[in-house]
Amino acid sequence: MEKMRIAVMVSGGGSNLQSILDASRTGNLKDLAEVVLVASNKRDAFALERAKKAGVDALTLEPKSFTSRAGFYAALIEEFEKRNVGLVCLAGFLLKVEPNLVQRYRGRILNIHPALLPKYGGPGMYGHHVHEAVLRAGETESGCTVHVVDEEFDHGPVLLQRKAPVLPGDDAQTLAARVLKEEHRLYPEAIEIFIRKQLPPETRS
Ligand code: GRF
Repeated sequence: MEKMRIAVMVSGGGSNLQSILDASRTGNLKDLAEVVLVASNKRDAFALERAKKAGVDALTLEPKSFTSRAGFYAALIEEFEKRNVGLVCLAGFLLKVEPNLVQRYRGRILNIHPALLPKYGGPGMYGHHVHEAVLRAGETESGCTVHVVDEEFDHGPVLLQRKAPVLPGDDAQTLAARVLKEEHRLYPEAIEIFIRKQLPPETRS
């Protein structure tokens, strides 16, 4: 069976990218997927180092080099098509995805969000803002979500979630770290579920 060809889009540290790379080498995605491209919108993203170390093709495209956001995404689509990408994973990619990318890869773009969507998602809800909002609301649990990307921020159908407790004395940092640990298990699991759904029933194990 041919492996699913994944492009991972990043803006930062790339610890979720790392969990996907690890899973595709030695973990649950070993026979199911390979990362064929890491695309960053930031030149200095540490995720690029991780890609390099793993021997995976990496590139930086900056929106400011294009006259429009649609143009930026059109260039990305071109890179994906060149490599026959079947699944796009957003992993700490901070820009809103434009409709041209969503339309070209409809149902085949996943995103990870550090909260239990539909709560604490949407514009402005990223990084420490998410965890601060969870703490402010006095929640006793939080978690993370992998969902299919549509035209709205943090909005498409939920594929999988994992929970993490909010503990007394938590601040945004301690909560973020606990949630991030769950994210690293969640994303490879969600990708496996996504891929198996695409397979004919007789080849599913
Ligand atoms: C994660 O918390 C992810 O849920 C969010 O951005 C963060 C990225 O972390 N979308 P990393 O770059 O994968 O370490």
